[in-house]
Amino acid sequence: MSNESKIIDGKKIAREIELSLSKNIAFLKKNGVIPSITVILVGENPASVIYVKNKENAAKRCGILSQKYIYSSDISENELLRKITELNDDPLIHGILVQLPLPKQINEYSVMETISPNKDVDGFHPFNAGKIFTGNSYFYPCTPLGIVKILDYCDIGLEGKNVVIIGQSIIVGKPLSIMLMNRNATISALNIYTGDIKYWTKRADILISATGKPHLIDGSFIKEGAVVIDVGISRFNGKICGDINFDTAIDKVSKITPVPGGVGPVTVAVLMENTINAAMKVLRRQRLMEDM
Ligand code: GUN
Repeated sequence: MSNESKIIDGKKIAREIELSLSKNIAFLKKNGVIPSITVILVGENPASVIYVKNKENAAKRCGILSQKYIYSSDISENELLRKITELNDDPLIHGILVQLPLPKQINEYSVMETISPNKDVDGFHPFNAGKIFTGNSYFYPCTPLGIVKILDYCDIGLEGKNVVIIGQSIIVGKPLSIMLMNRNATISALNIYTGDIKYWTKRADILISATGKPHLIDGSFIKEGAVVIDVGISRFNGKICGDINFDTAIDKVSKITPVPGGVGPVTVAVLMENTINAAMKVLRRQRLMEDM
């Protein structure tokens, strides 16, 4: 197998997801619903600025209306929660996303709980997050769902596989563990207190790293033929790179996501899908009321 053919093209998968939305987008518009997402950015974290720009560009490509509110990093929690409440009450807005991380005076959990579960395109509200356990949540968090879609797209079965996930954030590691458990994989969830990371990673059929620590994992950590999903994105010696040392990993893996161009674009495409699903929910409710 050539090394080239091992590289998973996240951009291609993302475009296919975006294309698959066009039928529902046309249906919504025909019925007078213009799907829309509102993104809130607090402060000027350079990575967040880029992520938000990528989300705006994807919305434009898909024909989804997007608007953005930018606040300075000293905004109070109350002011932010008031804005979210206002957006919750606006029937023309279907999806609300507050870009994380937030400045320390703002409790991120309060923000997640304030966004209406019906507009929670990030899938972080406790109602939606809790439903992940049952396997029938309406909004799954975008990065974990993107990873599941990548694995499915590449026909990588999950049943009976040893999956090792490094990182237990609420954005990636925790929800992903449950989502892959629901697919009957055997999950090992590693965190910063895990003593010997290599002991676990060497046994992984599928290794997923989401730490943001550049080049944490090199080829010697990887089992021959493993699938490697790199969720990390950081800057190292002026270059964007992931958690995986790609050059030493590529000879070991059967498949690997590059950084950039792997998980990132698929995450954004899933956000668009969640937004369309939020708008579809509104249309369904409208029709239900009309039938009464
Ligand atoms: N920051 C990094 N990833 C994410 C994400 O998926 N959603 C939000 N809201 N913020 C993030």
